[in-house]
Amino acid sequence: MAYLLGIDCGTSGTKTVLFDEKGVVIASASAEYPLYQPHNGYAEQDTEDWKKAMLSTIGEVIAKSGIDSADIAGIGLSGQMHGLVMLDSGGNVLRKSIIWCDQRTGEQVDKMNELCGEKIAEISANPALTGWTAAKILWVRDNEPQVYEKCRHILLPKDYLRYVLTGELATEVSDASGMQLLDVKKRCWSGELCELLGIDKGLLAPVYESCEVTGRVTKQIAEQTGLKEGTIVVGGAGDNAAAALGTGVCRQGRAFTTIGTSGVVFAHTDTPLIDPKGRVHTCCAAVPNSWHVMGVTQAAGLSLRWFRDNFCESEMLSAKQLGVSEYELMSKQAEEIPAGCERLLYLPYLMGERTPHLDADARGVFFGLSAVHTKKHMLRAVMEGVAYSLRDCVEVFREMGVSVSDMAACGGGGSSPLWRSMLADLYGCGVKTVTSKEGPALGAAILASVGAGVYSSVEQACETLVQSKDMTPPDTERAAVYEQYYQMYRSLYPALKGSYQALKKL
Ligand code: XUL
Repeated sequence: MAYLLGIDCGTSGTKTVLFDEKGVVIASASAEYPLYQPHNGYAEQDTEDWKKAMLSTIGEVIAKSGIDSADIAGIGLSGQMHGLVMLDSGGNVLRKSIIWCDQRTGEQVDKMNELCGEKIAEISANPALTGWTAAKILWVRDNEPQVYEKCRHILLPKDYLRYVLTGELATEVSDASGMQLLDVKKRCWSGELCELLGIDKGLLAPVYESCEVTGRVTKQIAEQTGLKEGTIVVGGAGDNAAAALGTGVCRQGRAFTTIGTSGVVFAHTDTPLIDPKGRVHTCCAAVPNSWHVMGVTQAAGLSLRWFRDNFCESEMLSAKQLGVSEYELMSKQAEEIPAGCERLLYLPYLMGERTPHLDADARGVFFGLSAVHTKKHMLRAVMEGVAYSLRDCVEVFREMGVSVSDMAACGGGGSSPLWRSMLADLYGCGVKTVTSKEGPALGAAILASVGAGVYSSVEQACETLVQSKDMTPPDTERAAVYEQYYQMYRSLYPALKGSYQALKKL
């Protein structure tokens, strides 16, 4: 029996999972780390935290599993997209990573538009975006020239972990799409964009297809973790492209929603479909010769985690005593409140917003708050607000003619029956789950299975390793209630747009 290791470097923590070749989880371990927010709109993480979390969880998984690590056929990496990791000539990290939800780069995005004009959307398949890597590179060049001068290599979060494991500098098409320096249609770096932006292409790592072998585990890492020296590490994928494989979304017509720190609605496509208004992203899929479109809400699980951390101390305490998850207790409380929260709405723009507004300066709002409302209403309103924002993504897909009726849900939030039912009611279609809860880690392991030759294609591996279950159907009565609230939700951002700009200047 061959085993496969999937490693997912997320925003709240890193999860490492060992699967057998049929996708059964043999052992898993995770480790959390902090998010640093030195200023409003900033978001950074320490690469050392990622590295420690990866190495400790690999060691833990191997120890727990009791297998001989020589039987691990391959390793796949998945990770939060867009984060900037800068290395000097000796391979040392130059500063904390500026991560995907950071919104400091408004000025740099304006500069990108000035320098590249239409080319940015034409080549990178997306409009210039504050959270994506190119703008972060320019920010460091403008604001920390002493760091930029020393920079010799630029990597994405999971690709930094590959460098730790194998000593190789490499990336792959799905994650590289989110750097905004890739020619997304041709699946290679764009010399033209690099030149227009004045970024040396030599700083970027060679780009592979996601299932290709990019390196092998070094002797030093083997000694530190218990892995076998020489084990192959494949390209892997950005967390969303990896979660797609982990939920079986590897063919046109299939879609999924993930509620992790961010919320994403994702659909697989055979051609690079581009929204002319730039509201959803177009990236290379982790399946060779295919692409995906995704709508992103910045603060999905992040909104609930923010609510938990600030208002749910007692739920966290009781959860600990009862040995259950605090989110389970919070969900039970939200279930006591009717759909629509008796006229309370929440806009989840804690970290600005992407789909459909593309506004780094938007911020969160509770709207309609009255003395009748309780903490439970606010809790449910947070969940509903995230679901309204995901419906916004589906609306854009429908406008583009992208089918979303074969819809799965994954991520921490996707495992909540309450959140799934909100999605089904708001999308107007059934929302299924899959038997494995491991989304991105399973997707990374699927890619490793192909690189190791266990399966002959990503689609074949996907069909073998992923099984669907539990279809949540929409409820007509509730859907009608939500529809009215959704229309109200949609009217709020345009009304507040000017105020967000004014707020920024205070
Ligand atoms: C996608 C995005 C997030 C991150 C973090 O564009 O920014 O989904 O990948 O999960």
